Amino acid sequence: MGPATRSDGGAEGGAAPGARTVAQASGAGTTMGELRSRRSVLAVPGSNPRFVDKARGLDTDAFFLDLEDAVAPSEKEAARTTVVRALADGGWDGRVRSVRVNDTTTEWAYRDVISVVEGAGADLDSLVLPKVTAARDVEWLDTLLTQIERAVGLPVGRIGIEAQIEDARGLVNVDAIAASSPRLEALVYGPADFMASLTMKSLVVGEQPPGYDTGDAYHYVLMRILTAARANGIQAVDGPYLQIRDVDAFRRSAGRTAALGFDGKWVLHPLQVDAANEVFAPSQEDYDHAELILDAYAHATTVDRRGAVMLGDEMLDEASRKMALVVAGKGRAAGLARTRSFVPDA
Ligand code: GLV
Ligand code: MG
Repeated sequence: MGPATRSDGGAEGGAAPGARTVAQASGAGTTMGELRSRRSVLAVPGSNPRFVDKARGLDTDAFFLDLEDAVAPSEKEAARTTVVRALADGGWDGRVRSVRVNDTTTEWAYRDVISVVEGAGADLDSLVLPKVTAARDVEWLDTLLTQIERAVGLPVGRIGIEAQIEDARGLVNVDAIAASSPRLEALVYGPADFMASLTMKSLVVGEQPPGYDTGDAYHYVLMRILTAARANGIQAVDGPYLQIRDVDAFRRSAGRTAALGFDGKWVLHPLQVDAANEVFAPSQEDYDHAELILDAYAHATTVDRRGAVMLGDEMLDEASRKMALVVAGKGRAAGLARTRSFVPDA
């Protein structure tokens, strides 16, 4: 059984009804598709019904119910039942609904997938696969998902996959992983496991390791993941910041990956939610500017039939339009409204 063809979601597909979506540049950078918005992705321990209930009230773009590292081995089985019930009970509005299953080397992985998808596949948008080290991990999940979808009569290919890159092998193979399945919607950086994998000399996840004073210790890994994601028209999501009460530090950490182009970041606490939604959306000024560029460029190319145009003192061409599409798409997905409108020169 080969990989699924997406019937929904994915770089060119539509998202679930009611989901917040964001236009995304495709691999060649020429066409735009719709992906579900993931500025803030709430991590919720799947074994704790109280946390699951609380999560319903938080204004995140996405959430995942965790069956992996936030759940003790003795609780894994019971957590599957809690997770299925939480999805089936609903109340998640337009959020992206995900479950993180255990990684492919564990005894839990296959039954996680079967229980969750058979139990609540219609109420699930994607599965987060942790510790992905090679394309075959994602291919395994794709194949298993297809088998379950066929068996229970779900549309084949609707459920997406998010692959966590969180060790040296995953990063070395990130290009193949990013291209491994049409179900893949995002690469997700896992800083805690990654720092452990590289044997970094720090216990503060997301912060620079003390002693490294020549730049950003994570620049290479972040750029590597982002480039692989964009080359395949999928999203790049930053992982958690564990010092949950230090919102300024969270903002700084999120601001760095947002500046590079990442789509969002995991949040672990209500205090981090607004910061993530804000940091990964464009500013009002940038959003207005982007919409003006699109209008001015459309006017120039259709009405005036010119390929380059001035907007104030700024020269615009096709490349400007592509950059503006990204910012405008993120702004629309974040619910921003225009405060300036385009008026063509008389
Ligand atoms: C997340 O899974 C991490 O390891 O940081
Ligand atoms: Mg991890």
